[in-house]
Amino acid sequence: MKILLTGSNGQLGHDFQKLFSNSNMKYISTDYQELNIIDNNELENFFKNNNDFTHIINCVGYNDVDEAQNGDKTFLLNEKAPQKIAEFAKKMNAIFVTYSTDFVFDGRKNIPYIEEDIPNPLSKYGISKQKGEKIVLDTWRKSFVIRTSWLFGIGGNNFNKQVLNWSKMRDKLNIVDDQVSAPTYSVDLAEFSWKLIQTEKFGLYHITNDGIASKYDQAKYVLEKIGWKGTLGRAKTVDFNLPAKRPAYSKLDSSKVEKLLGEKIPTWQSGIDRFLEEMKENGEL
Ligand SMILES: NC(=O)c1ccc[n+]([C@@H]2O[C@H](COP(=O)([O-])OP(=O)(O)OC[C@H]3O[C@@H](n4cnc5c(N)ncnc54)[C@H](OP(=O)(O)O)[C@@H]3O)[C@@H](O)[C@H]2O)c1
Repeated sequence: MKILLTGSNGQLGHDFQKLFSNSNMKYISTDYQELNIIDNNELENFFKNNNDFTHIINCVGYNDVDEAQNGDKTFLLNEKAPQKIAEFAKKMNAIFVTYSTDFVFDGRKNIPYIEEDIPNPLSKYGISKQKGEKIVLDTWRKSFVIRTSWLFGIGGNNFNKQVLNWSKMRDKLNIVDDQVSAPTYSVDLAEFSWKLIQTEKFGLYHITNDGIASKYDQAKYVLEKIGWKGTLGRAKTVDFNLPAKRPAYSKLDSSKVEKLLGEKIPTWQSGIDRFLEEMKENGEL
């Protein structure tokens, strides 16, 4: 087995590295400096010299939903690059894994989205991810496209870290309660992805932590856990007038993967508990 990780310094990449190191598995980790996945020449050269991977796990994503509204970089990272890597994976018969988002949906549903639901993205970010999903699955049959939501982990910036920072500077916070999905711990995403990958049942899957939360619920949980003494208020998405539209409800149903693996994914509260422990161990809390 020979595994390639791209975008390995991000949240998910960091936790894949940890998972593979702890299991003494051989992997090659690359981030922007070693392998810029939007540079086709770099990809050509890299795969000319490294053409015997059994697995390629792409952890790169353009995640700035608002910034994505300007220009086309989101399409390079979320659509074109995964397509190109899927083509290389096909040439070497390697399993290809890439990630997508709950933001491919418009949020008009009020029960969790399943894999068969029809996407209708509201933003350029969502459109780029939806296009990436389709092109990858059309390009190479040994591909996994895994949708996740509201990712947080030690290896990058995320909403939990923002809440922790705000809590140090302010004694009143207003957080939106009209965006609902599931916060997902990148440790759990890496672990369940790896279990899924080993089944070789290729295709589209949802992996998120169990349970449902608004941004307000998520912030409240984090702030209570750290014993913040300030006041938490509710806000509405319209109050912030952000460039990109977000789905109001984008909880993904993960039962397809849970049934396949015969295992429940932990709750988002359990994910946050372990994340805060990790922050403490790292001296970041
Ligand atoms: N974060 C979320 O809330 C969320 C939600 C749903 C789905 N997802 C998807 O889940 C996957 C993992 O997300 P994540 O939060 O772990 O992402 P992340 O923390 O932003 O990590 C992405 C990594 O890729 C690197 N990178 C950026 N451009 C690159 C390039 N051209 N070539 C090679 N590496 C590059 C980044 O470097 P720099 O940091 O230097 O740019 C970073 O180290 C992505 O596909 C993402 O779209 C994320």
